[in-house]
Amino acid sequence: MDVLLGIDVGGSGIKGAPVRLADGTLAAPRHRIRTPRPATPEAVAGTVGELVRHFGWTGPVGCAFPAVVKGGVVRTAANVDDAWVGCDAGSRFAEATGCPVTVVNDADAAGIAEATFGAARHRSGVVVVVTLGTGIGTAVLVDGTLLPNTELGHLTVRGRDAEGWAAESARDREDLSWKAWAERLDEYFAELERLLWPDLIVVGGGVSKKADRFLPLLHTRADIVPAELRNEAGIVGAAMAAARVTSP
Ligand code: BGC
Repeated sequence: MDVLLGIDVGGSGIKGAPVRLADGTLAAPRHRIRTPRPATPEAVAGTVGELVRHFGWTGPVGCAFPAVVKGGVVRTAANVDDAWVGCDAGSRFAEATGCPVTVVNDADAAGIAEATFGAARHRSGVVVVVTLGTGIGTAVLVDGTLLPNTELGHLTVRGRDAEGWAAESARDREDLSWKAWAERLDEYFAELERLLWPDLIVVGGGVSKKADRFLPLLHTRADIVPAELRNEAGIVGAAMAAARVTSP
């Protein structure tokens, strides 16, 4: 299979595009539909179905989802409707689309894409891809192999869940200056480094477009660089994850 449809379910938008697996580029312009509210399994599955129909797609689909996903089943709901916990998202989306759907954690999808086509390609050792958005997502790769569902956005920093304090949404909500936010990120990354001693940290999520505003203010021990696939990493990685499952 040369092209697969990748979909990224996010807090504000559900985006998709056909992805060329050889080089991770999009074979058609990305399409985005606003995430339904409340984002229940039924409503989100409906939107995923709409996206698939937009592309007239009939083959396998990869879907990145913002929660722990094991064998297609959603296990946590930090930033999604509680009704998702225990839901077999793979089967739900397959029913809604008529296509086989592989579901993976969104940060893991971004990690696979960055390790293959982006900022972490050709990098060995321990790489952590950290997505800063509504939540904090993490992908941990060792010599290019993913350890899935690490959820290190929920590390405890200052006695609380780091995500609510250091995500891009916290910067926005509290109207933090870049400097004030960078101080929080420094504490978060120090905890991450204490645990994993990464060789490279890749920072993704929409705010990575503005990496020059905050990355130079950080003091990580590891190299820290912006993601290269930006907002497309989830879509590209989801398609790649589906390819791994569907190829013989
Ligand atoms: C979720 C993760 C997800 C991250 C980014 C967190 O709240 O627990 O599964 O990867 O948000 O969307």
